Parts: sequence; C-alpha cells; structure tokens
Amino acid sequence: MKTTLLTPETDENAVKTAAELIRAGEVVGMPTETVYGLAANALNGEAVKKIFLAKGRPQDNPLIVHIADFEQIYDLCPAVPPQAKLLADAFWPGPLTMIFPKKDIVPYGTTGGLDTVAVRMPVDPVANCLIHLAGVPIAAPSANSSGRPSPTKAEHVIEDMDGKIEMIIDGGAVGIGVESTIVDVSGEIPTLLRPGAITIEMLRETVGQVEIDPAIQGPMAANVKPKAPGMKYRHYAPKAELVLVEEKNPETKEVISDRVIEEINLLAKSRLDQGQKVGIICTEETRDCYPQGMVRSLGFRSRPETIAHNLFAVLREFDDLDVDCIYSESFSKDHLGQAIMNRLTKAAGYHILDVKEEV
Ligand code: TXA
Ligand code: MG
Repeated sequence: MKTTLLTPETDENAVKTAAELIRAGEVVGMPTETVYGLAANALNGEAVKKIFLAKGRPQDNPLIVHIADFEQIYDLCPAVPPQAKLLADAFWPGPLTMIFPKKDIVPYGTTGGLDTVAVRMPVDPVANCLIHLAGVPIAAPSANSSGRPSPTKAEHVIEDMDGKIEMIIDGGAVGIGVESTIVDVSGEIPTLLRPGAITIEMLRETVGQVEIDPAIQGPMAANVKPKAPGMKYRHYAPKAELVLVEEKNPETKEVISDRVIEEINLLAKSRLDQGQKVGIICTEETRDCYPQGMVRSLGFRSRPETIAHNLFAVLREFDDLDVDCIYSESFSKDHLGQAIMNRLTKAAGYHILDVKEEV
C-alpha cells in the first residue's frame, strides 16, 4: 500500500479525501490537539480491525471514539450522567475522554469486548472537520506502532505507519503532546484512568470528588486489573534503558537539585567510559550543567506545557540515535506534572533513583 501525505494548508481537498477514505472503511492518520490518531469509522467492525492490524495492537485494548458535536454522543451511549454533562460543558471540545455504557450499535471490536465506550470531542480544527465530513464517529488510538512513544508530528506517523495505511493528514506539530485525560463516568464517582492536560485539580474543581485508578500511581501487581486496559501495557517505551533520577524533598516538593545533576553526570560518565552512547533528558534551566553525553532539553521546568509538548519527540529522537541508556531529570507530580510523570515513569519501567536514598 502506498501511503499518501496531504497537508490541508496547501491542499484544500486533503480533509475531504481523508473523509472519503474513512467512509470507504479505510484508515487515515489525523492530527488532534493531544497526539496524532489512527482514524477509522468507529461503527464499522471491519474498518476498526485495520487499525489494530496497522498498530500491531492487542485486540483487548479498546479505542477512543471521537465526535464533533455533543449530540452525537446519544448515537453511542444510552444516557449521559449529570457529572459527565458538567465535565463536557467545562472541557469539550478538548483533551478529555469519558467512559460511558455503550449502545449496541458500537461494535465490540471498537471497545475491545467491553460494554463501555470511550468518547472524546477533539478541539483540533482538522480533526473536527474530518469527523464532520466523514459523517460518522471516528475511532482513533494514538498513531504509533504498539509500544512506541505516541506521535506528535506527521513525521512520526510516517515512521511507524508508512505502507500500512492509505493516507496521513499533516496538520503540523500537535499542541499538547500527551494523550487525553481519561475519566470513567459509568460508575457513581468519576474515576481518573489516565492523567492528561485536563488535570485532576481541574476535574475536582468541576465535579467535586474524583477517584484515581491505582494503575496511574505505579506498577501494577500481576493480579490487579487496571480499568483502562491500555494501562497494563509497557507504553511509551524507548529502546534504551531509561532511568529517572530525583531527590524527593517532601517539604518543597522539589525533585531536582545539584546532587541530581551531579549523580546524572557521574552515571553518564561511567557509561561513556564503557564506550556506550548516553542520552540525558533535562530542561532549559539545567542544560548547561551536563558537559557530556547527548543532552536534550524538554523545555522549561517553569512551564510544564513545554515539557509535555516535547516529551515523546525526545524519546523518539533517542531511539533514532540508538543510545544505550538515558538518564532523565524528574518532575513534580501536580497539575500537568501528573501526566508528564505518568508517561515518564512508564517509559522508565518505574526505574527511579532517589539520590537521597542512595547514600
Ligand atoms: O489523546 C488521545 O486520547 C489520543 C487521540 C488520538 O485522541 N488517543 C489515544 O488513544 O490516546 P489510545 O488508544 O492510544 O489510548 C486509549 C486508552 C487506552 O489505554 C485504552 O485502554 C483506554 O483508552 N480505553 C478505551 N476505551 C476504554 C473503555 N471502554 N474503558 C476503559 N478504558 C478504555
Ligand atoms: Mg496510545
């Protein structure tokens, strides 16, 4: 299959062509405000199978269904609970996904065999236009091969999907850079299943009590089932070993100090002395503190949205550079930091080194 790349900025038919492909049961790479998605008709079981095939994704890992208007939700779910309505009013269109009981029309192929369906209304104008023109709700997981970091640029989608899907819409770099917040609203109390740009603080401010699924906080015991099936897979994994280095200070909530920088430099030196390629993940505030290794800044620690925006691209870059190991600074876990640290600790396989505990 030859994969066509079209840019809406220069080709006025780009989104229309993609919509026709979706109506014909094909798969298309689409930009959203969070990460790129692999889009297909959510109500067409055969089309959805092609998504799983292109990604190499396990069949039991359900997809998010994207809509363009609030009313479309009633095609997918029998009812919208009051708390979900409050959240939709506050955060849709935007980077929030909610889990509802599903209607029969939604195939089990889309929901990974579950009786619930994940729904999101993206704010990205290209995604919104595509859903409108396709005239059907669109199932879309992140457009990476299963296990790789999510794509935040069309180039990343090409890397993983060239020859596997009909078309990719190049909408430029995404805005946010980490996937949507997922909240289960099918039970009594809303439960956060995946942190994202709509933070737990924002959710609680809107609906009061919100629980947090334990799968978010750390590694899952073998006998515990996360509520979002995707959270059990080792996601976002770079090819190299990744270690997070921090100094937890419960009083100031700071996680970075001179000792962290010193430790990363020591670890890097010992690997470099063994002839290995070493990657270092830091921020603009500290990039000049690392004299050796391949040093990449994620952005400004003082502006977490810059860190989220660059995180996956930097992990992908280290894959391309074929580094043997990566040492990364750590981040505080409040607000957007919860999503950043969720992705980073998963990428590290929960390998975190606290310099305080070490000595
Ligand atoms: O920002 C995003 O959400 C992006 C863009 C493309 O919209 N999509 C995305 O999809 O991140 P994906 O497939 O990579 O992640 C979806 C997550 C998975 O962890 C999956 O297990 C969970 O959502 N999920 C989907 N349906 C679910 C359901 N019915 N119940 C619980 N979890 C569900
Ligand atoms: Mg994904």
